[in-house]
Amino acid sequence: TQTFSIASIPGDGIGGEVVTAGLRVLDTVAKLSDGGIAFDVTEYPWSSSYYLENGTYIPDGGLEELQKHDAIYFGAVGSAEVPDHTSLWGLRLAITQPFDQWANIRPVTFLPGVESPLRKADEADLDWIVVRENSEGEYAGMGGRNLSGRGPGNEVALQTSLHTEKGTERIIRFAFDLARTRPVKKVSSVTKSNAQQYGMVLWDEVFARVAADYPDVETESVLVDAMSAKFVLHPEQLSVVVASNLHADILSDLGSALAGSLGIAASANLNPEKRFPSMFEPVHGSAPDIAGQGVSNPIGAISSAALMLDDFGLHGEADEVRRAIEDVTAAGILPRDLGGDANTIEMTEAIVAQLEAIHAGAGQPEP
Ligand code: NAD
Ligand code: IPM
Ligand code: MN
Repeated sequence: TQTFSIASIPGDGIGGEVVTAGLRVLDTVAKLSDGGIAFDVTEYPWSSSYYLENGTYIPDGGLEELQKHDAIYFGAVGSAEVPDHTSLWGLRLAITQPFDQWANIRPVTFLPGVESPLRKADEADLDWIVVRENSEGEYAGMGGRNLSGRGPGNEVALQTSLHTEKGTERIIRFAFDLARTRPVKKVSSVTKSNAQQYGMVLWDEVFARVAADYPDVETESVLVDAMSAKFVLHPEQLSVVVASNLHADILSDLGSALAGSLGIAASANLNPEKRFPSMFEPVHGSAPDIAGQGVSNPIGAISSAALMLDDFGLHGEADEVRRAIEDVTAAGILPRDLGGDANTIEMTEAIVAQLEAIHAGAGQPEP
């Protein structure tokens, strides 16, 4: 038996229900492997309520604890009781930064049976991976408040972006290597180098230099504002999109909306050197507006679990999970955010049943 150890952190809001859904699917993958694969899951109760009780999101020794696992499976963090910057720096960014998860992979694909706002587009037109620089840029955490010294009403705050040549080069190389594995070998680089003349111009220069090492990969450089229009107007012209931390954060939400909903988008925070565990999570947040109702869409979390299976080298199993999701949406079984009426558990069970059916060599589910 190949055993993989997973640290699960459900977090806040809908994080718990979507992580439960993903773990249910992994359970099924293990069961269907007939003893070939096992997942040893340890849950960590780190959340905003944990913080309110204990004064910290991650207790002393928590990161060392996480490091014992092969991967981290994360739900979401964010609660009305704690300022967002406190919760995010306390939990999510408190993991991605020390674990040097510098590459954040966010696939954007259509699901069959899901109506996209891109009505003219067809399935093949939307199949991208957003590669997000995940360790520096606008999220470097550098800056300060009260810099004017001129008192209330005249405050000056500074939020600095950090762009290192090494950090920029590694994420761009990562994007090119990924593009080589895809049907359309193209990398689109996103900056705002017309207005941001230091960091983003460095990015453009590094991109041009790295591109020369990949003559087989088509390239383009697009400004972020124009790229957001291109996402909507010419989805068929994209394959791998590489961007800085903030730009890719925004573009990946836009991409998931074009595919139908924020609820379906998956994300992998990778430490490609594998010195630290990587972290898998849906792109969406804690969705306080629907938390506790049991109606959240589990597809983003389940697709993120499929990315975790890929990371474990279990590509066949990962593909089966993705196929099960597609079969279920194609059969018209959809959650509320996609216009259907299946709740979180019904969606999850439909995907689990289809995974079992695929395994047994059967066809599509009944709508
Ligand atoms: P959000 O992603 O939580 O929600 C945006 C909208 O999308 C809401 O209407 C929500 O109901 C909907 N939505 C999101 N996921 C869904 C799902 N699985 N199924 C159905 N509908 C879904 O973003 P927000 O409202 O900007 O942020 C809420 C909180 O989450 C904030 O505290 C924010 O800081 C935090 N957040 C955390 C993460 C993370 O932990 N990775 C990511 C984004 C936002
Ligand atoms: C995401 C989220 C986070 C990010 C926030 C909540 C810090 O929006 O995972 O996309 O931007 O990294
Ligand atoms: Mn985001």
